[in-house]
Amino acid sequence: MAPKPPPSLFTWLILPIIVLIFLYSTLLPLYTLSSTNSQPRKPKIPISPKCNLFEGHWVTDTNQKPMYDETCPFHRNAWNCLRNKRDNMSLINSWKWVPGKCELSRIDPFEFLGLMRNKNIGFVGDSLNENFLVSFLCILRVADERAKKWKRKGAWRGAYFPKFNVTVAYHRAVLLAKYKLQPKQSTVFDQEGLNGIHRVDIDVPSEDWAGIINFYDVLVFNTGHWWGYDKFPKETPLVFYKAGKPILPPLGMLDGLKVVLDNMVAYIQKEFPKKTIKFWRLQSPRHFYGGEWNQNGSCLLNEPLEEHQQQWGEQGSKTTE
Ligand SMILES: *[C@@H]1O[C@H](CO)[C@@H](O)[C@H](O)[C@H]1NC(C)=O
Ligand SMILES: *[C@@H]1O[C@H](CO)[C@@H](O)[C@H](O)[C@H]1NC(C)=O
Ligand SMILES: *[C@@H]1O[C@H](CO)[C@@H](O)[C@H](O)[C@H]1NC(C)=O
Repeated sequence: MAPKPPPSLFTWLILPIIVLIFLYSTLLPLYTLSSTNSQPRKPKIPISPKCNLFEGHWVTDTNQKPMYDETCPFHRNAWNCLRNKRDNMSLINSWKWVPGKCELSRIDPFEFLGLMRNKNIGFVGDSLNENFLVSFLCILRVADERAKKWKRKGAWRGAYFPKFNVTVAYHRAVLLAKYKLQPKQSTVFDQEGLNGIHRVDIDVPSEDWAGIINFYDVLVFNTGHWWGYDKFPKETPLVFYKAGKPILPPLGMLDGLKVVLDNMVAYIQKEFPKKTIKFWRLQSPRHFYGGEWNQNGSCLLNEPLEEHQQQWGEQGSKTTE
């Protein structure tokens, strides 16, 4: 029998996205009002202290149509569910999150880009951030058809919106910290069965985002799905270095994650300007079942998971993406 789909997939993939959109369309205007020359505009949805975006439920709304179609140029081809004709896309696209005690209207790309005029938004992390970025770019493009691809400063993908002079881009840094494969030769970790190690410098950000300190006005960070043995198998484990020296005794993967998070957060706080608005995007569960991403695993869910179905991984592992 096929394993049960890992639950909360849908909820936890989409919910953070909706929360981010909400934050963008409400918090940001509040922050940016003082620094724009244009007429101050009241954000459409004032944030009520009673409003808890995480309390709510999913509903289908068949009147709701996606803001973009498969011609949006910012997808990786393999990830373009619309163009690749994934089944039931209209059903999937009709789900929307309705918080219990607050109004959550759809993002208005014209208003959003208007408020973000002359500003730049960056995403740094793994494919959760990339996924968010792609749909975000496609939505924003509705307001500026002349949007063009932008890949500077170490960005993996992104777009420039000339009408508003806004850049939105993604820097791929799956562990956030710098890491690289070192083939077998290390005298420190010369153990049986090792083909080499992945050296992780816990105190050094990966080069992909080292050069962006003064460029973005808003940054969204994440990491999580790469901290697993499917990505870094025991034959080439993660070995953590601090100040250029291996940490001894060696840290396990989750302890490594913890020190990397501590160090990256400290780095961000120290190096990035105070006025840069920083978000930390939370985790979602893995979204494969019936196999890993590279072992015929699929994601055939069409509806959100029930609360009681939610769990944080398959076989207790923290993995993939
Ligand atoms: C575009 O925005 C950047 C800041 O991101 C600013 O330095 C530049 O002057 C702006 N260009 C124009 C033409 O307004
Ligand atoms: C994936 O499916 C193909 C076709 O059914 C099969 O040949 C292949 O062995 C499968 N791969 C894995 C890793 O299960
Ligand atoms: C599409 O939805 C129908 C009806 O809910 C379902 O029977 C079918 O399995 C779905 N297809 C996929 C690929 O999930």
